[in-house]
Amino acid sequence: MRQQQQVDVAIVGAGPAGLAAARRLRRAGRTVAVLEARDRVGGRTWTDVVDGARLEIGGQWVSPDQTELLGLVDELGMQTFPRYREGSSVHISREGVRTEFTGDLPVGEKTALEIERLTELLDRLAAEIGPAEPWADPRARELDTISFHGWLRQQSDDEEACDSVGLFVAGGMLTKPAHSFSALQAVLMAASAGAFSHLTDDHFILDRRILGGMQSVSEAMAAEIGVENIHLGTPVRAIRRTGGGDGPGVVVESDRLDVTAERVIVAVPPNLYTRISFDPPLPRRQHQMHQHLSLGLVIKVHAVYPTPFWRAKGLSGSGFSAGRLVQEVYDNTGRNPDGSEEERGTLVAFVPDEKADAAFALPDAERRAAVLSCIAEFLGEEALTPDVYYESDWGSEEWTRGAYAASFDLGGLSRYGADQRRPVGPIHWACSDLAAEGYQHVDGALRSGHAAASDILSAWQIS
Ligand code: FDA
Repeated sequence: MRQQQQVDVAIVGAGPAGLAAARRLRRAGRTVAVLEARDRVGGRTWTDVVDGARLEIGGQWVSPDQTELLGLVDELGMQTFPRYREGSSVHISREGVRTEFTGDLPVGEKTALEIERLTELLDRLAAEIGPAEPWADPRARELDTISFHGWLRQQSDDEEACDSVGLFVAGGMLTKPAHSFSALQAVLMAASAGAFSHLTDDHFILDRRILGGMQSVSEAMAAEIGVENIHLGTPVRAIRRTGGGDGPGVVVESDRLDVTAERVIVAVPPNLYTRISFDPPLPRRQHQMHQHLSLGLVIKVHAVYPTPFWRAKGLSGSGFSAGRLVQEVYDNTGRNPDGSEEERGTLVAFVPDEKADAAFALPDAERRAAVLSCIAEFLGEEALTPDVYYESDWGSEEWTRGAYAASFDLGGLSRYGADQRRPVGPIHWACSDLAAEGYQHVDGALRSGHAAASDILSAWQIS
């Protein structure tokens, strides 16, 4: 016999979005039950010890525009620390030319000017269109029915410039090839971070980390919500509406617990909505829309060394290459609980979208060798022999199925965007993948959780 519980609001998912919603509702004096499929909180943020090394397996960086997250970190009495970035970065061109540089990417003068022009154009579009309702802009359909790859080539005949600019959104953010999402989706990504030039500036977008790890933000929220209100290892299988029409009333069913509530917030990535049976079924528009949202794919690779050997060579640890298997690498050396730097040096490298497909097609040992030899091209052959090597493989995680987050396919954002956050009767939606500011980031997850909680609280005030 399944356990029964009655609360004001049931919340599906104990990622940052679900926990932010639950915390806000609890603070307003409401009762909540958070049902989480995994045996931990934090969702796509996960700080864990692997072979003796403390790693950020999921989300980790905070940028200055992410004020919702920075505010929460302050409120929770937590601290951030800056990413190491002293010294030169390394660029490897498609032709294999390795250059150490500081400042802008080392490309020819004509290409540099084209990158600058395209960046200004995208900054202007991001400022004009904004992150809140990109679908409402008069240019939305036009920008949403051309791929970002195609749009860039309409603007410029400099292939290297188009490629470089494209990668900041494609491999760098949406983790999908630039031919598979629209120019409007790229503008949303840029606007959600404040500007396109923020995405191209690793000093901005990869600015700081959380002392104790990003997952600890979720753990601190969970502690405040109360363990008795969070049910781990409890995948939700069905949401039944009991109120009739659009009225309040749901039963949220899992294998071992049924929660009766006035409302429910579904705080899971949209690609997983179909894992839940809705009774009555969701409206046609939701059924259709959800089929146009999918997660990207990236392998986040962690390599830990006895020392941060690259620093002694005057290198920051940052490396970029459009042509190599590893598209980006950064110094990701951690901090001890007292704030001092760990003795061992950690690198984090990213293998995105189609490159990840190719890498996963290799046997494990070959993939590891291929990734490490790429990192060695950037930073030296010491990279070939890490103490610890680990690949975050979110595509294999049943309760995520990709990384970093979800985006619409071509034409989906202008067609469906206006409906993605619209509640269906007592069913509300929250997730970083549906956010405006902080879209695809922890900051956006918190904002969307807060927005769903506020919507429910205001509805109660009115009724
Ligand atoms: P999230 O996916 O985190 O949480 C959803 C929860 O719902 C999960 O715990 C899941 O188990 C649960 N769930 C799913 N289905 C369920 C069901 N049927 N029943 C019950 N529970 C269910 N962001 C950032 O700000 N800085 C960064 O540096 C990065 N980097 C990064 C790297 C990698 C590798 C990843 C995968 C992601 C990032 N991100 C990031 C993105 C960031 O981690 C992400 O945006 C947030 O974790 C999203 O939080 P949500 O709560 O919206 O979803």
